[in-house]
Amino acid sequence: MIAMTILSNRIAAQASKWTFSIGPIKELIDRYVGNGIGWVDPFAGMNSPAEFTNDHNPDCKASYHMEAADFCKMLVPEPPGFAGVLFDPPYSYRQVSEHYKVLGKKATPLDTSTQFYSRVMNPICDKIRPGGYAISCGWNSNGFGKHRGFELIEVLLVAHGTHHNDTVVVVERKYNGHLTGDGWKMTADVERTIGLQFKPEPVIEDVGCGIKSCQAAAAMSAIQEDT
Ligand SMILES: C[S@@+](CC[C@H](N)C(=O)[O-])C[C@H]1O[C@@H](n2cnc3c(N)ncnc32)[C@H](O)[C@@H]1O
Repeated sequence: MIAMTILSNRIAAQASKWTFSIGPIKELIDRYVGNGIGWVDPFAGMNSPAEFTNDHNPDCKASYHMEAADFCKMLVPEPPGFAGVLFDPPYSYRQVSEHYKVLGKKATPLDTSTQFYSRVMNPICDKIRPGGYAISCGWNSNGFGKHRGFELIEVLLVAHGTHHNDTVVVVERKYNGHLTGDGWKMTADVERTIGLQFKPEPVIEDVGCGIKSCQAAAAMSAIQEDT
């Protein structure tokens, strides 16, 4: 078995609600995102370097002020797809509720469930090009995951001291292959590099609409997780 190296680091830094202003996180974002061309950020806040930015809150610096899920559905990438997605949503259901309250709305039970995250990840995951990135921030290291076609390449833990939760930053790369009824099919170069240790997750072939995409796979796996 070939062991794949995942870069991991733990650095102490002061917390901020504007995640990308935190020193070690800014450094990581700069390293992957560069000038931001071709990057998407559905929860842009105040500091996003991405070319395509959205934030529900009209006071935030973003080109669009939509529900993140609607923004991701609306975007149409130039082939072969977007360079990457920055995913820095509210980190808990409580933060989700507070966000809606600030905007004078009431969170529904679906807003305060895993659906809040999957409804944004699912419509964007297929639009990232092979070899592109997903950089996710939060209180866990789940990221987009293999079932959406991503492999983990770097984890950064930012420790904020006392009883604060760490901020967990996960960098994943879009798998360089395509989805078949048997799961992800690797292109030859990727197979040579990671093929022996990569185990594609099974995909249910008939999703009822004839679509075989990682979005469909993700939707199916969410259904399976919920049942
Ligand atoms: C953790 S902050 C992002 C901070 C940003 N990365 C930065 O460094 O400036 C999360 C952002 O998501 C926005 N947000 C929360 N729920 C949203 C939703 N359903 N759709 C779009 N934006 C949302 C909030 O307004 C907030 O600015």
